Amino acid sequence: QDKYVGIEKISLYIPKYYVNIEKLARQRNVDPDKWTKGIGQEKMSIIPKNQDIVSMAANAAINILNDEDKKNIGQVIFATESGFDFSKSASTYLFDLLNINKFAKTYEIKQACYSATAAIQIACDYVRLRPNQKVLIVSSDIAKYGPKTGGEVTQGAGAIAILISSSPKILRFTDKFVSLTRNEYDFWRPSYSEYPIVDGKFSTQLYIDMFKESVNEFKNRYKNTLQNIDTMLFHLPFSKMGKKALISLEEDLPLLSQKWLSKYDQSTKLCRQIGNLYTGSLYLSFLSQLIYGNLKENSEIGFFSYGSGAVCELFTGILLKDFTSNIDIKFIEKMLENRDEIDVSEYDLNYFEKIYTEENFIHVEEKLMEKGFNLKGIENGKRE
Ligand code: CAA
Repeated sequence: QDKYVGIEKISLYIPKYYVNIEKLARQRNVDPDKWTKGIGQEKMSIIPKNQDIVSMAANAAINILNDEDKKNIGQVIFATESGFDFSKSASTYLFDLLNINKFAKTYEIKQACYSATAAIQIACDYVRLRPNQKVLIVSSDIAKYGPKTGGEVTQGAGAIAILISSSPKILRFTDKFVSLTRNEYDFWRPSYSEYPIVDGKFSTQLYIDMFKESVNEFKNRYKNTLQNIDTMLFHLPFSKMGKKALISLEEDLPLLSQKWLSKYDQSTKLCRQIGNLYTGSLYLSFLSQLIYGNLKENSEIGFFSYGSGAVCELFTGILLKDFTSNIDIKFIEKMLENRDEIDVSEYDLNYFEKIYTEENFIHVEEKLMEKGFNLKGIENGKRE
């Protein structure tokens, strides 16, 4: 196993609050079936004022790092499209909170929801050259489209931490990949804008087109290995998205489309309960499939990463022995169970108020503080 590079550990953090999608639909005069069945969402994670992308990332990563890891981490890469500073990276805070050794390099990386995948590829190359070092990747985002918008039902928040090393325990990556770039405006957020600008229908079509092109290229590049992929995982802005992509393969690759569709639902269980994590969404589908799917050791897993704007990548990995015993499933289930529901009226009143920008001083009330890492306040753009 030691000659491989891959995922040694992975963990999730989600905020303590959620909104019920059926209730939100009724309040917005939308048929609830459209959002629960047509889009495929049940609950949407809501980030409270005592959390931000850094505290969520730290809360995810702290669960998987021991002192030995912290000593051997050569890079901390923070993947996000919810950055709050154009210069200082979120990873500088994270590295400090986690007590990572000071010789690690730390930086933030961006290309919409694709960036965690770019980070993984960088990490794998780095570890292949320096097998004694590890790379910590966190993806942490707040997906907010604004009230009463087309994208409102596809909001969410949370963080995923992944430790890449030369002693993977969960999955080892193969060297097969297809990446693809197109300069498009399907979803983008100019620096002046609090919310993204979205061409919703075009974004779903572009996602599907780029998936199909990636599959075709993969087939040409790696000949007869496409059918070896046992399960295909997707970036899931909402749980129906990957299904639409798989259905689009029905005509050209009916057997593969059927095989992957038969395993698809298990990969969406967490997304249905949490919503869009942006950079972390593909890896949330992976966790979901690991926990709820019936995967076997040595099976090849396909990953389709997509980031609007647009860059995508199709790549694969092989599941390792005892992969489930290396994931804290109980912790994830407890986090989901222990959440509190927020009324739609309260969400409408508070969720869209500007809290992270412009004001000079923000002090989060002590009573909101939770176990783990919290955002305490912001003064002159400095976060505590
Ligand atoms: N019962 C059951 N199903 C119903 C229904 C009902 N009463 N009414 C409608 N539906 C179905 C529709 O048939 C449709 O299903 P299909 O797509 O399978 O045909 C589904 O519900 C959605 O209907 P619409 O397309 O009419 O929904 P919409 O106009 O509200 O738009 C959306 C949906 C485009 C996804 C919108 O929510 C949006 O803009 N979201 C944000 C952008 C996004 O997530 N894009 C995805 C690709 S981009 C990406 O992946 C990057 C990223 O993270 C943002």
